[in-house]
Amino acid sequence: MNILLREAVRYFCTFAHFSYCNTMNIPESLDLSRLPKHIAIIMDGNGRWAKERGEDRVYGHYEGVVSVRSIVDACGKVGIGYLTLYAFSAENWNRPKAEVDALMELLVNTIRKEVDELKKNNVKLHVIGDFESLPESCKKELNEAREITSSNTGLNLILALSYSSRGEITAATRRIAAKVAKGELSPEDITDAVVEKHLYTSDYPDPELMIRTSGEYRISNFLLYQLAYSELYFSDVHWPDFREPNLYDALINYQQRERRFGKTSEQIQMTKPTEVKGDDE
Ligand code: IPE
Ligand code: IPE
Ligand code: MG
Repeated sequence: MNILLREAVRYFCTFAHFSYCNTMNIPESLDLSRLPKHIAIIMDGNGRWAKERGEDRVYGHYEGVVSVRSIVDACGKVGIGYLTLYAFSAENWNRPKAEVDALMELLVNTIRKEVDELKKNNVKLHVIGDFESLPESCKKELNEAREITSSNTGLNLILALSYSSRGEITAATRRIAAKVAKGELSPEDITDAVVEKHLYTSDYPDPELMIRTSGEYRISNFLLYQLAYSELYFSDVHWPDFREPNLYDALINYQQRERRFGKTSEQIQMTKPTEVKGDDE
């Protein structure tokens, strides 16, 4: 990645406004009483989006921030409780150093720039992942933003940074094993609830909907435990083009699914008395 481009991005991040105006009306076909509480998104395709335009990959990351803003706003607008964004995986450290540095810089600048808006929009920021592995400047900015937004009560925005689901499960296992070794917990007492309590996500419900953009059909080490019963939605749209209307499409698609949790369709229909009654009338 050339130095000039990085400097241009640095300049842009410091002075430009990332605002993306969500102007569309919420589609009538979206039932606001049946939204998922928690949406998780693998924001993929920034690099390809930039390459298709003959640009450096970092340009795609920059434009991806505008999509983040649009989706965060849209989630707040419809009343989603939790939005987890996969922003940087533990495996992403293996990318070229120049791209990693540019991503970390973009993270710092974006948080610094957006924190007032998050505060104003009642968004509470959270971070999951290997926090200590992040550069000091990122940790500082993230800690401040968490503090500033800590009393907000609207959308919980959870950034997955330096995140590895296997790492999370391994760390949880280690902590549980330590408690057993100390005699604080017996093996028989290790239930699903105990495991969940030791994950980064212990304070959040599991995502009902997981979206991955850019046409890849894989999970890439994201929330492997928590996605056990999530509905999966794959979009061919690259992340920098994924905006408010695309989110509504995903939500409308989600509402057309029947979530069975191992039961039969007939059983599920029986437990939806109002809808079944409505159908009979
Ligand atoms: C997602 O876009 C952003 C991060 C992983 C940080 P990519 O950078 O993976 O874009 P593609 O998949 O190479 O197009
Ligand atoms: C997953 O995307 C990680 C993030 C979106 C942050 P990647 O682009 O890194 O995933 P793979 O390598 O294609 O599986
Ligand atoms: Mg990718």
